[in-house]
Amino acid sequence: MYKRIIELRKILHQLNHDYYVNHTSNVTDYEFDAMMNELYLLETQYPEYYDANSPTQRVGSDHAADFVQVAHNTPMLSLGNTYNREEVRAFYERVCTLLEGETPEICCELKFDGLSISLHYTNGELTRALTRGDGVSGDDVTRNVRTIRSIPLKIAQQEGMPEEFEIRGEIVMPWSSFNRLNEERQKAGKPLFANPRNAASGTLKSKQSAVVAKRQLDAYFYALSSAEIEEDEHGKRLELAKRWGFKTSEHTRVAHSLEEVFDFIDYWDMERSSLPVATDGIVLKVNALKQQDILGFTAKTPRWAIAYKFQAERATTTLREVTFQVGRTGAITPVANMDAVALAGTTVKRASLHNADIIGQLDLHIGDKVYVEKAGEIIPQIVGVDYEARGAELGTKVEFPRTCPECGAPLVRYEGEAAHYCTNDTGCAPQAKGRIEHFISKDAMNVDSLGKETVADMYERGLVRGIADLFFLRLTDLMGEDGTREKSAQKIIDGIAACKNMPFDRVLYALGIRFVGKVGAKNVAQHFKNIDALSNASVEAMMEVEGVGQSIAESLHGFFNNIENMQLIETLRHAGLQMEIAEKVKASNALEGKSIVVSGVFTHHSRDEYKDLIEQHGGKNVSSISKKTSFVLAGDNMGPSKLEKANALGVAIVSEEEFLKMIGEG
Ligand code: IVH
Repeated sequence: MYKRIIELRKILHQLNHDYYVNHTSNVTDYEFDAMMNELYLLETQYPEYYDANSPTQRVGSDHAADFVQVAHNTPMLSLGNTYNREEVRAFYERVCTLLEGETPEICCELKFDGLSISLHYTNGELTRALTRGDGVSGDDVTRNVRTIRSIPLKIAQQEGMPEEFEIRGEIVMPWSSFNRLNEERQKAGKPLFANPRNAASGTLKSKQSAVVAKRQLDAYFYALSSAEIEEDEHGKRLELAKRWGFKTSEHTRVAHSLEEVFDFIDYWDMERSSLPVATDGIVLKVNALKQQDILGFTAKTPRWAIAYKFQAERATTTLREVTFQVGRTGAITPVANMDAVALAGTTVKRASLHNADIIGQLDLHIGDKVYVEKAGEIIPQIVGVDYEARGAELGTKVEFPRTCPECGAPLVRYEGEAAHYCTNDTGCAPQAKGRIEHFISKDAMNVDSLGKETVADMYERGLVRGIADLFFLRLTDLMGEDGTREKSAQKIIDGIAACKNMPFDRVLYALGIRFVGKVGAKNVAQHFKNIDALSNASVEAMMEVEGVGQSIAESLHGFFNNIENMQLIETLRHAGLQMEIAEKVKASNALEGKSIVVSGVFTHHSRDEYKDLIEQHGGKNVSSISKKTSFVLAGDNMGPSKLEKANALGVAIVSEEEFLKMIGEG
């Protein structure tokens, strides 16, 4: 059996590498999944062969874990920056002088904009991953790094590979993952990440490795070190790293003159927007390691390398006003209104100021000349103030409000968040309007006869103040005084009445509970079955739902502990909205008399969907394993204690595929 486990791990490591590093594939998804499942099953049957670097470990875990600080073997230094050709020329000439006339080759690389990582391998296995930290020691993030699919967990031993080596690189969040993540966050009412670097860094520091696994990070490597490696040029070491399975940039070039260096810079200055990941410059490194040794280091940076930073597209303009917008969730967003200015192909009049801390740091005054940048970020930002351009008379100082600019209620700032929120959940106009807009939106109740403008109009006329009021609207409220617009009014009334047909999970999503997105609502609905069970559940009970962590659980719990929200639910119940999941018709008796424990993460259905399927086929869901348990339906990453118990009691473990076959879905 051990042989088969080893064989499968080897094949799957290779297939992973083909797919995530080389973007090729020799097997179908089905074949890949089948092998992964076989391996998973074998690993659950033979826990003595556990391996933290097995391909099955890529899905991560939802157990929260703190990070331990570990010292780096050699400090992780940073690079000196240059911003123009003259500074690059000065670097090159300084290098030539120090090398006493030898002409250096310069390895030109892209500067990836993420966070640096140091990986340690022993006998080809990933043993430790450390963040840069303060440069001297970093956080041990190995658990999280293991979920990044392009990072090799086990490398086949080959000639020239030392027993121990370290490789450094950059963890990035590709634009595609970044955009998807922000879309999801927007829908769930969570603050957006300003750029892929912040998103990558926030993700890698997540205490739950399953979160990291989902966010789809990637990594590029740029420094391979070990005294035992023979390659004496940096570029050759990168090629070696590539042969060992690491993702290195395909755009690295060795330049033989300053002109070739400039060509590389000019090319990527123009072309970087076509790359799948964010870059913030070019890194130039003396290629020969011997020459690197001669050049050595200053206290903080090597003398043999330098970064050329791309010019963030920047413009100067005048700040006229700062408004504070209140979103659906009550988050306050400061927005700067400025004189229009051309920037990166568009005219910019508004820029984000993010939060109170940034406003404080900038010491902004109305009338200030401000620098606006678009450095890959989606929204232009004010990055600085031309303090010298200030005249004798300063404009009004921009201060973050203490109370909500819309309703005057006090603001709060939750621990760990940069944003301030208005506390008047129910009475604050933008929040109330936003909540109604969310309620009727496509993914929620999908009342397409109602739009943003109509909602605003109804709100201003005092017809609706909250979601509940929608259900008390009369035809005459919506028609013109002279009896016009009857047709459109009727459509609105019908559209609202049709909310009755929407399933419970959509109702739950439509309530707009902070952090509860579409998928979350579905899982919660399926888990608790009805609103009464959900509203009486403890935070701990809520955290048992797949994908529900502490912040979602606390948000849900807070929502149901608010009397006004409970009144809203009663009104909706009275209006006929579905407050429980629809009874499923019995599909078969295939699982009659069976008590089943569901554990782990699944591919074809969610955990809660499996619980549903068990009931539909006559089985019974039980939460803990006992002698009476018929079998455990095990997905990826089944908890080790459950596995131990099942083995001890001789309870069978059934894979997802086997289970689907049992119920005739295989
Ligand atoms: S070399 C001794 N190469 O930029 C310095 N760094 O500003 C070794 N970075 O901390 C760094 N792409 O996180 C190097 N091709 C590249 C890079 C790169 C991105 C990051 C790295 C470093 C920071 C320095």
